[in-house]
Amino acid sequence: MSNQPVIELVNLRKQYGNTVALDDITLTVRANEAFALLGPNGAGKTTLLHILCSILQPDSGTAKVAGYDVSRQPLKARKKLGVVFQEPSLDDRLTVYENLNFHCLIYQVPRRERKQRIAEMLELVELADWRDRLVRTLSSGMKRRLEIARALVHDSKIVFLDEPTVGLDVQSRARIWQYLTELRKRRELTLVITTHYIEEVENCDQVCIIDHGKILVEGAPEKLKRDYGHQMLRVVARDAEVGAAILARHPDAVAVGEEVTLPVGEGRFIDDFLGEFGSRVRQFSLESPSLEGVFLALTGRDLRDVAATGREQTYAFGRRGGEHTR
Ligand SMILES: Nc1ncnc2c1ncn2[C@@H]1O[C@H](COP(=O)(O)OP(=O)(O)OP(=O)(O)O)[C@@H](O)[C@H]1O
Ligand SMILES: [Mg+2]
Repeated sequence: MSNQPVIELVNLRKQYGNTVALDDITLTVRANEAFALLGPNGAGKTTLLHILCSILQPDSGTAKVAGYDVSRQPLKARKKLGVVFQEPSLDDRLTVYENLNFHCLIYQVPRRERKQRIAEMLELVELADWRDRLVRTLSSGMKRRLEIARALVHDSKIVFLDEPTVGLDVQSRARIWQYLTELRKRRELTLVITTHYIEEVENCDQVCIIDHGKILVEGAPEKLKRDYGHQMLRVVARDAEVGAAILARHPDAVAVGEEVTLPVGEGRFIDDFLGEFGSRVRQFSLESPSLEGVFLALTGRDLRDVAATGREQTYAFGRRGGEHTR
């Protein structure tokens, strides 16, 4: 399969008033990749996707989608794209089928193909039995699945998914990834996805971490873990006094109750730690570097609530005090 660049961003910049949302972003996504864009609230992810869908104009720089400049040939670029927006965007007063059919009309899907494509997509996202239901009667998981079907139904080759799984239960989240994986086996498809569930992107080909509108790092998950991750030591101290002693000795440790997590240092770190605290800890485990650890190490632990909506604040990063960090 081809791995030609399908998204090419060069020195892209976007400012809202005094807020720099994108600061000189240069980025390439290749055909058939699953590309994850990670970043705390307000990092610039949605702004980037909106420029790629030609909803927003960049202040400077260029963005190409499938070879088309999104500022100069927006309609041609849009035809290649499917989008699942961060905010819900279905028509609640129409049925499941009507939402897809309307979308097909706008995208000029030939009449002959329309019925079959809609049926295929409803099958894929397990909504065939709900075809004639009004959208407002569906659960949030079902609505999200329908939005995914809509992003795919016009045979889009590139699909942007802006937090497609936020707020869904574990089962629904797993299903959404299952549909996307299934479809990638069947047809040519490049995915650009943002999510706050970092573990979801372990299987993506490329991960790009952005913050304050700038790219911090980019690479395959394994590479990022190798280059920026840390093996972590997790211990349960015998009592609060021991926990405090570990924290005093290791300022980069993080404690939640009696559980203390700290990055494994160089050389005889573990032997030395056990020599000092071994008889005073109840449990002891070693954890491999994680993407979440990489993310926190690079973006820090401060909350980024400033511009987030209430829904997003629930998923703000850095709340989970016991997770891996430097
Ligand atoms: N229409 C707007 N007017 C003014 N500022 C905006 C507007 N949209 C976004 N911003 C600001 O631009 C920055 C980037 O916002 P953006 O929505 O792109 O971030 P995000 O990474 O998608 O965040 P989240 O994870 O919360 O969805 C933030 O500081 C935000 O407050
Ligand atoms: Mg966003």
